Amino acid sequence: MLTLKPTALSSFSSSNPIPYLFKPLHKPYHPLSPKPSSFPIIKSILQYNRKPQLAGTTPRVVVITSGKGGVGKTTTTANLGISLARHGFSVVAIDADVGLRNLDLLLGLENRVNYTALEVLNGDCRLDQALVRDKRWSNFELLCISKPRSKLPLGFGGKALIWLVDALKHRNEGCPDFIIIDCPAGIDAGFITAITPANEAVLVTTPDITSLRDADRVTGLLECDGIKDIKMIVNRVRTDMIKGEDMMSVLDVQEMLGLALLGVIPEDTEVIRSTNRGYPLVLNKPPTLAGLAFEQAAWRLVEQDSMTAVMVEEQPKKRGLLEYYYFFKYGK
Ligand SMILES: Nc1ncnc2c1ncn2[C@@H]1O[C@H](COP(=O)(O)OP(=O)(O)O)[C@@H](O)[C@H]1O
Ligand SMILES: [Mg+2]
Repeated sequence: MLTLKPTALSSFSSSNPIPYLFKPLHKPYHPLSPKPSSFPIIKSILQYNRKPQLAGTTPRVVVITSGKGGVGKTTTTANLGISLARHGFSVVAIDADVGLRNLDLLLGLENRVNYTALEVLNGDCRLDQALVRDKRWSNFELLCISKPRSKLPLGFGGKALIWLVDALKHRNEGCPDFIIIDCPAGIDAGFITAITPANEAVLVTTPDITSLRDADRVTGLLECDGIKDIKMIVNRVRTDMIKGEDMMSVLDVQEMLGLALLGVIPEDTEVIRSTNRGYPLVLNKPPTLAGLAFEQAAWRLVEQDSMTAVMVEEQPKKRGLLEYYYFFKYGK
């Protein structure tokens, strides 16, 4: 019997560097989805070898947000940041999760954070002393707002973060291409502070209703704040669960939130391993599925591109004689 099965991990886009990474197992493609080109693999290799073209004006100040905690904001910040640096762009990642900072851990830079942005604002150190340069990619720097377990100080708000972003723009080293802000969970003061200097947002969500409701609320707040360029990353996607109709497909998520899709990241145990090792997934050799998906998302971020989630029809199952017998007898 021909059944319609949603699949999340299929995308084709003119500038998609590895268009077949998420090629679904079943054909044919949805009639509305663009047809793949005749030499997709060659095309993808060529695209992967070229440098993505930076769209928009620099610095691109991007906030990585979600509303709900634990959906993968910090993982996304670390992997997008390192990917962008690998493509040759200068990146400053700001950990704005005051009190619960962990971006330094994911990047393996925790032992090198001597000063924080609060000390810069208090006049206790210079900005360049608070910036931690990555040893692997010298064009990647980390700025932590505060020490772990400290509370958001009363005087620290959106204006202070705007001041910091301005200071980063006018450094002697030159203006960075990307300033990525890792936003805290929730929609209170910390969230408002983190989104204030941003002109674009990446909303991270998982395909479950609690995360989607929070993402929807956050989208409204971002729009109220004047951030119109909002793209989403759907994280921790499991095709087996989607096929079993136990998980929402990316197409469903996209229809519910109505946002442009920047990337789809599969659930991958390597993410947890890389988190614990302080070694971002995109640096893994050989690359993992989730690492490649982050790499693609970074590529789209640079070019202000997006991907499409499509519905895929499953091919009719070939039946043996016994199956036909059961089909006619029991109708399945
Ligand atoms: N695609 C994924 N597959 C498996 N585990 C993931 C994935 N994305 C995130 N995680 C795990 O989820 C946990 C929370 O991620 P984190 O980035 O800290 O979330 P947040 O910053 O939104 O609170 C971490 O342990 C991380 O390793
Ligand atoms: Mg976090």
